[in-house]
This record gives sequence, structure tokens and C-alpha cells, in this order.
Amino acid sequence: MYRTHTCGELSINHNGQEVTLAGWVQTVRKFGSITFVDLRDRYGITQLLFGEELNTELDAQPLGREFVLQVTGKVNERSNKNPNLATGDIEIIVGSFKVLNKSAVPPFTIQDDTDGGDDLRMKYRYLDLRRNAVKRNIELRYAVNRAARNYLHQQGFMDIETPFLIKSTPEGARDFVVPSRMNAGQFYALPQSPQTFKQLLMVSGYDRYYQVVKCFRDEDLRADRQPEFTQIDCEMAFVEQEDILNMFEGLIKSIFKDVKGIEYTEKVQRMTWEDAMWKYGNDKPDIRFDMPLLNLKKPAVVYMNKQDQSQLINEAGFKVFDEAETVIAIAAPGCSEYSRKQTDELTEWVKRPQIGMKGLAFIKCNTDGTYKSSIDKFFTEEKLKAIADAAGAIAGDLVLILAGAEERTRKAISDLRMEMANRLGLRKKEEFRLLWVLDFPLFEYDEEGNRWVARHHPFTSPKPSDIETMIGNDPVITNAAEYLKHPYAGIKANAYDMVLNGNEIGGGSIRIFQRELQEKMFAALGMSKEEALHKFGFLLGAFEYGAPPHGGIAFGFDRLCAILGGSESIRDFIAFPKNNAGRDVMLDAPSTIDDKQLEELQIRLQLK
Ligand code: AMO
Repeated sequence: MYRTHTCGELSINHNGQEVTLAGWVQTVRKFGSITFVDLRDRYGITQLLFGEELNTELDAQPLGREFVLQVTGKVNERSNKNPNLATGDIEIIVGSFKVLNKSAVPPFTIQDDTDGGDDLRMKYRYLDLRRNAVKRNIELRYAVNRAARNYLHQQGFMDIETPFLIKSTPEGARDFVVPSRMNAGQFYALPQSPQTFKQLLMVSGYDRYYQVVKCFRDEDLRADRQPEFTQIDCEMAFVEQEDILNMFEGLIKSIFKDVKGIEYTEKVQRMTWEDAMWKYGNDKPDIRFDMPLLNLKKPAVVYMNKQDQSQLINEAGFKVFDEAETVIAIAAPGCSEYSRKQTDELTEWVKRPQIGMKGLAFIKCNTDGTYKSSIDKFFTEEKLKAIADAAGAIAGDLVLILAGAEERTRKAISDLRMEMANRLGLRKKEEFRLLWVLDFPLFEYDEEGNRWVARHHPFTSPKPSDIETMIGNDPVITNAAEYLKHPYAGIKANAYDMVLNGNEIGGGSIRIFQRELQEKMFAALGMSKEEALHKFGFLLGAFEYGAPPHGGIAFGFDRLCAILGGSESIRDFIAFPKNNAGRDVMLDAPSTIDDKQLEELQIRLQLK
């Protein structure tokens, strides 16, 4: 037997017992004739005491960091206890020991505050995974996985596996492809998600499906994206949007409770896509703080139902505002005393290429009731006050104003809102606020191709009230500049996203389940009948055989774990992640393959 106990479980209750432990050497400390060793395994650390009588043996085979060691000895109450360690009340007086395996000197220290840089840690990920900080993340991931499975199982969902070698499933990214040896010249695609399979399972009558499943997308990577990532993927039959929202609100709350001990009792807040964009500048707003946008001007055709406050800036003769498509302000609480240096620095911040604005206007709402602004020349104090009031600013606040092209400006003010909240400490890691964003547009305009693309995916149904608009209108866009005036621009989808602390953690929709409407959808996306049949004949065919109404959702499992673990990066929560260039630096993948493999695939490489 290699061990009787783990390195995390011995306490004063075991005093005097003879035990055997096995683990890795964390530290070796020699004090005169005695040696202390911290022995570590997955469960914790236990202090070992090697007495004088073992010195000759220790000299013969010195212990180094990360050696694999087995010791047998007696549990002994420590005189100087360590309250920070679960096993801190005891130590093991070693009777005998055996080095089970030696270790080379690790390239970085296996501690919470490691000296290893990112690349080094990824190259030696198997060592990095020994570190407590990483282990806690992997444990949290397992806890989230278990909590999700428990809830879904209790609700009657069935885990059904779906294939990885498939035909393309469009989710808006590029496919990873795999050449087929048995069908030379042909390729499988790896699933961007199990979307069409879960829909087929509904047709087959498995009315509650789930899977914790790998998805593969060849897209540009960011902190919250990996080329292969995991979804908690779910689908239900005979449901309306409301059923889905309730069911999966339940899932997330159940995960909160099981994993974090948080009772999220209130109903998850809901917001339409249009409100989210208008009020916060993006479709995944962080609502842990408010800081809403003041829309001082709206472009002619977007946000048809919204009322801007352009009267506040009209007739001031300020060209920058007059010529801009959009002017938007926010009020940063308590920042009126920002120095010249600080406002200059903020201006530089919005001018960075990632933000891309030309400048920043501000109004200081001084505590003495006066208003000071970078646009004093054009606005009287009375006018400045009116803008500040409309932005919801009070004495002591700083109003920040951006002007420019609609899309860029809205994104920039949204980024600025987040930046100010970060600076002001309004985005607390341990506070969790969920939000449903509803009523997304069904289509998005793709400028390059001058055509409509599905905002979610082509299987998402339009709102019932919009079906007629979809069927009755030609999708062709004749005037690209005015695409927003096309009837398709206003069609809303039966789609929903779940947002947690400003991150999209899940998205789904009620699906199209009638062949005609699905065909119309493919046509609206510019697919010919033949192309639709070639790509999705199986789905269109299945819809002929009694497809039930259905809908579903998929949660980004890695993202959910990262947020619950208080991290921005999902990589920390994946055992073997890829770097930003999509490489596995440990495996050194991707890599070239043997000529023999190419030969078998009947492929000749000729890179452009
Ligand atoms: P969607 O594409 O919105 O929907 O994906 C669902 C969730 O998966 C997460 N996610 C990612 N996480 C890490 N890396 C990525 N590259 C990545 N891409 C997406 C996000 C996202 O909310 N089949 C549909 C779901 C459905 O309609 O039921 C789908 O995949 O958190």
C-alpha cells in the first residue's frame, strides 16, 4: 500500500498513530541535525520531521523539490502549530522513507505566487496544475459541472452524446476541418456546437436533452475565447421562451447555491436588446452598477422607438457635436475633482486605437454648484447644467461625452463606462448580477457581402408577429447605405442571452420547426435552394416527419467557471488550454504531419 492517508487529512485526532504518506516534496529545510520537509499532494501539505538517525540516509539520497516521496512515521502534536495549514497541529516523525521518483529542478516554483511566466507555465502545464491556485480552479470547474448535471438530471434531462466528425454547423465562426482517409478529398468539420443534432433529438422525441460538450471554432482569440471550449448545451421540446427562461434561470441559481453557497432568490432581471444598447451601449451590460448613457443624438434610422435629448446640444454651434452621427454622455460619480492630468489621461485613453475616438468632452459638476467644462466656449453654465442633470449627474460628478459615428461611439462609451466602473471599484468580484437580454434582431447586415446574416444562427425563429414581414418581403438589399430601412432590419428574434456581470454566459433561442419557414430563412441568408438542400437537407427532411415546437440554450461552461472563480481569463479554468495564437505550447501543436500520413490521405501540400 502506498499510503494510509492523504497529506490533507491528519489532525490532532490521529496523534500517536503510525501512518504512511506519499506525495511531492514542496520544501526541504535543514536545522542542524534535523530536517523538515513539507510533503504535498492534491489534498494538502503535511510537515515531516526527519531526525538525526536518518541523516546518513538523507545524505546518501538527498531530497529535492518535487521528488516523489513515501514516508512512514508517527503523527505527533506540534509544539509550534501553524493555524494557516489544515494539518498545522501535527507533524510526522519519520521512521523510514523511500524516494519513489526523483525530479529535475522545476522551471518555476510550485507556489501560489509563482515566478513562472505565462509561456513557461503553459509549456510545463502538468507542473502548473500542481499549484494550488490552478488546482482550486480545476476543482471549481468540476463543482460547476456536478451542480449542472445534478440540476438537469433532477429536471428530467438526458445526457446524449453527439458526434464530433460532422458536416459544418454554422455558428458564425470558421470550421476546423478533418480530412477523411476513406473518402479521399472529402473533409469532416468539427462541430461549432451540437445545434442541429439537439434539434434532431427533439424530432426523435427526447424532449429534454443536455450535454457538457466540446465545441470547436476557428475564430480570433480573446481572454474569454478558446478554439475548443465547453458548453452546457440544452434543448427542450414543447416549450415557449418563458419556459426556457425559467428552467435555465433555475440552473444558474442552482449552480450559484451548490458551488458558491449563494442564494440568488430574486427573479433575474430582463431587458430588451434595444434597451440594453440604448441604455448601456452594448448587449451584455454589467448591471452591478448603473451609470446609464444619456443619448444626446441618435442616428436617423436606428432605435426607432427611442427619444433622444438632442435639444440639449442643438444650436450651440459646436461643430464636433453637430457633425457627429451620435453624441452620448455618462456621469462618473464623485470624479468632479479630476485634475487636468487625469482628464488628459482619460482623453488619451479614449484615443487609443482599441477605442478609436477623436477626443473627450467633459463637464465637472463642482460641489459648490458651479459647472466647468472643456466645451465652455459653446455652452453656457445653464446649458451645461441641463446636460449634467439629464445625465443624472449630481454635485461632485464628472460628465464624460463622446461624439462620432454611431457604432464606434456607442462601443466606446460602453467601454468607458466599464473603465470608469473599474477605476471606481464598482465591479466587485464577489457580487453576481444576472440579466436576460431579449428580443435580439433576427438579422445582421454584412457590409462586405451586402447581405443578411443570422445574428444568432439560421435555426432561430422570428417573433410570431414578424413572420409575415419575413415571408412577405424580398431580402435583397438594393441600397446598402440605407439597409436599416429594409423591413428585415426590424425583425426581432425569439432569442435570449444570459449575461453575468457584463459577460455573455449563455445564449439560445426558440427554433424554427416548419420546413417552409426554415427554407425561407436559408433563402433570406442568400442560400440557393440547392445549397440549402446540400448543407441542411437532413434537417429540412426531419422537419417533414413531425417536428415538435422546441427551443434551447447553451452556456459557456469555461466562462461561467472563470466568472465564478473571479477571473477574466477562461484559460485558468481549462486543464490544458491553448495560447492566444491557438497553440498548445506543451504539445507544440498544431504541427506538420508525416509524408506517410499525407500520402494516406491522398493530400499534397502546397501552401500559398
Ligand atoms: P453561442 O454561439 O451563443 O450559442 O454559444 C453559447 C455560449 O458559449 C460561449 N462561447 C464561448 N466560450 C469560449 N470560447 C469561445 N470561442 C466561445 N464561443 C461561445 C458563450 C456563449 O454564450 N448552439 C447555440 C446555442 C443554442 O442556440 O442553443 C450556440 O452555440 O458563453
